[in-house]
Amino acid sequence: MERVSKSALFCSVLVALFLTSYAQQNCSSFTFENNKQYTTCSKLPVLSSSIHWTYHSSNNTVDLAFRNTGTSSTRWVAWALNPSGQQMAGSQCLVAYTNSTAIHAYTSPIGSGIPSLQEGSLSFEVPSISATLSGTEMTIYATLQLTSELLSTNQVWQEGPLSGGVPASHLTSGNNVASVGTIDFRTGDKKRN
Ligand SMILES: *[C@@H]1O[C@H](CO)[C@@H](O)[C@H](O)[C@H]1NC(C)=O
Ligand SMILES: *[C@@H]1O[C@H](CO)[C@@H](O)[C@H](O)[C@H]1NC(C)=O
Ligand SMILES: *[C@@H]1O[C@H](CO)[C@@H](O)[C@H](O)[C@H]1NC(C)=O
Repeated sequence: MERVSKSALFCSVLVALFLTSYAQQNCSSFTFENNKQYTTCSKLPVLSSSIHWTYHSSNNTVDLAFRNTGTSSTRWVAWALNPSGQQMAGSQCLVAYTNSTAIHAYTSPIGSGIPSLQEGSLSFEVPSISATLSGTEMTIYATLQLTSELLSTNQVWQEGPLSGGVPASHLTSGNNVASVGTIDFRTGDKKRN
């Protein structure tokens, strides 16, 4: 009896390991809604998130999908580039949340004051942006028109609650302050493809 349950446990550990490494090493084969696929991806270290993209050197655009798998219709998610630092101030954000009628996806530049994630244009063009929520998984799809300083820069991602139907402050501790890093659209993290 004990032998059976031990090997069952061993098998489920193996399956879990396989699924984890599959998810990490093979995110290029992850297929999104509308069969969208991206050549490169990076699993972000905190907040159940990953960033997937295809960089087009011919016109310096990037098609991307930011996934957060731990959200709901009462929370917002955001992903940003921030050439000014690994911080909130100056972040050029893509934001999505569920409003009274739809999934609202928009751009929001953060100044130096207290961020309210108000809608506005970024320091670069965003020809398209949309988002989907499926269960606990929010995905923001966007195309960015990059400039040379944005090819390799800082990225910031975040999530928080809604209050009165609009984004409210996120936690200012733990994983919510560790959600910064760098991204290089040309090279990505090819080892994980
Ligand atoms: C990754 O996906 C490709 C295409 O679906 C597949 O051929 C390859 O075997 C996968 N690699 C791993 C490590 O699972
Ligand atoms: C950029 O180039 C890619 C690849 O040639 C193309 O698919 C895409 O539509 C172009 N994007 C824009 C915004 O011109
Ligand atoms: C909700 O989001 C949709 C899609 O972005 C937008 O068209 C609509 O104006 C938003 N409604 C409100 C009340 O903000």
